[in-house]
Amino acid sequence: MKFSTVLAIGSVLATAFSQPLSLGKRAINNTAIEDAIPPSTKNNIQASYGRPFSIYQPKVFIISMFSYERDPWLESLDFIHNITLPGLSPVYPTLYCTTNFTICQITTGEGEINAASSITALGLNPLFDLSKTYFLIGGIAGGEPAYTTLGGVTFAKYAVQVGLQYQLAYLDYIKEEPDWISGYVPYGVDDQYTYPANVYGTEVFEVNEALRNRAVELALKVELNNGTAQNAYIRSLYDEEVAQGLPTIFSCDVVTSDNYFTGNILNDYFSNLTKVLTNGSATYCSTAQEDNASLEAFTRLDKYGLVDFDRVLVMRTISDFSRPPPSINAVEFFFNTSQGGSSAAVANIVLAGTPIIHDILTNWDKVYEAGLKYQSKNYVGDILATLGGTPDFGKASFEVA
Ligand SMILES: *[C@@H]1O[C@H](CO)[C@@H](O)[C@H](O)[C@H]1NC(C)=O
Ligand SMILES: *[C@@H]1O[C@H](CO)[C@@H](O)[C@H](O)[C@H]1NC(C)=O
Ligand SMILES: *[C@@H]1O[C@H](CO)[C@@H](O)[C@H](O)[C@H]1NC(C)=O
Ligand SMILES: *[C@@H]1O[C@H](CO)[C@@H](O)[C@H](O)[C@H]1NC(C)=O
Ligand SMILES: *[C@@H]1O[C@H](CO)[C@@H](O)[C@H](O)[C@H]1NC(C)=O
Ligand SMILES: *[C@@H]1O[C@H](CO)[C@@H](O)[C@H](O)[C@H]1NC(C)=O
Ligand SMILES: *[C@@H]1O[C@H](CO)[C@@H](O)[C@H](O)[C@H]1NC(C)=O
Ligand SMILES: *[C@@H]1O[C@H](CO)[C@@H](O)[C@H](O)[C@H]1NC(C)=O
Repeated sequence: MKFSTVLAIGSVLATAFSQPLSLGKRAINNTAIEDAIPPSTKNNIQASYGRPFSIYQPKVFIISMFSYERDPWLESLDFIHNITLPGLSPVYPTLYCTTNFTICQITTGEGEINAASSITALGLNPLFDLSKTYFLIGGIAGGEPAYTTLGGVTFAKYAVQVGLQYQLAYLDYIKEEPDWISGYVPYGVDDQYTYPANVYGTEVFEVNEALRNRAVELALKVELNNGTAQNAYIRSLYDEEVAQGLPTIFSCDVVTSDNYFTGNILNDYFSNLTKVLTNGSATYCSTAQEDNASLEAFTRLDKYGLVDFDRVLVMRTISDFSRPPPSINAVEFFFNTSQGGSSAAVANIVLAGTPIIHDILTNWDKVYEAGLKYQSKNYVGDILATLGGTPDFGKASFEVA
């Protein structure tokens, strides 16, 4: 039986005291409560690490961006708790949890602003202790035919934000700069392929490669949905062998931009810019509108011990090609050609995401709670080294704007 837990925090807390601990809730520890209120007259106050008062400690949090990505999870898992939190998207104000709050699911809303706001609201809500939670960002995305195909599943190591740039309209630059391939120019420079002179700090994120590789290893064992006959026909129009093939699991990187770009020129440009921004390390294969925004929120939360950035996975399945095949122009392809629908991409979110979730739950005590076995060996975090370490991308010095 499904029931709703749409409650104000006060009454949830009240309920919690009367619930058995087997629900995965943390016992209230009076010593910790006293410790958490420092006897100080200083007014420069720093919140404590972790969450001494929180109730729920999910092992896995699934992150979807809109209903289409969420619904297959609602069908596949037995979510019975509906929890409405302040600060979530007005379109998706409710998150869902399974029986014992082991697995939860949140829908952020689409685009960078929605993703950053919703993840921040979740991370700061006092109900949840997410310091050991694994996060699986699972969404659909556009795909580069050189590296992936319709229905394919990509797990990223880098998320690169390519939209933070100057932009000029074609007629405004073409006389003076006939060689520019688009109107985009990185901040603080006047050349399209130069590392930006100033950055906002959200341009590049790098996540745990060891955990990513574990998710890939497990997902490779499942049989993916191959998609529709029209998906197969569209794949056959491309020259690239990967595009022509059936969906499988790919390790390659995601770019984020609120600006939904398509076509050969911008895909070439953003592909090259991804190389510039990561010193050649990242390979752009999927394009979406949220990932570095969610990762920015996770970085800020990790900084205060509220989440562990090492436990974030970014999975994007390919719903459509981001550039046309040689026989069709970009406008006709984008506005007037069916690529066969995204049923395979949506089905494969669950098919490819379930093995790592299962692994986390099955081996929680032995492996995942401590998080040592798949601890990152690569740099993780943002361009500003907010979480420590030394980024293996970026420039030795730049101006932070
Ligand atoms: C909980 O949310 C699900 C999914 O939106 C919905 O189907 C269900 O009716 C909700 N339950 C209650 C009691 O509101
Ligand atoms: C309660 O919290 C204190 C301080 O954080 C800690 O030392 C102690 O081990 C905790 N007790 C239990 C039973 O968790
Ligand atoms: C929590 O629920 C899941 C799914 O129903 C189950 O597999 C798991 O064993 C439960 N865990 C605990 C601690 O009860
Ligand atoms: C998000 O990532 C995209 C490319 O992946 C980048 O262009 C954009 O600047 C990033 N946005 C933020 C807010 O980090
Ligand atoms: C996808 O196609 C491959 C190759 O033909 C096949 O082995 C596999 O069973 C198909 N998957 C599904 C779910 O039908
Ligand atoms: C962009 O990258 C492609 C492939 O790496 C390369 O062939 C092309 O020359 C680059 N374009 C520019 C303008 O740098
Ligand atoms: C879209 O398709 C229709 C019917 O095939 C055709 O008449 C029209 O010219 C196409 N539009 C574009 C922009 O290709
Ligand atoms: C990345 O490339 C830039 C520009 O070539 C260079 O200044 C910087 O030192 C490189 N950064 C790393 C971490 O290799």
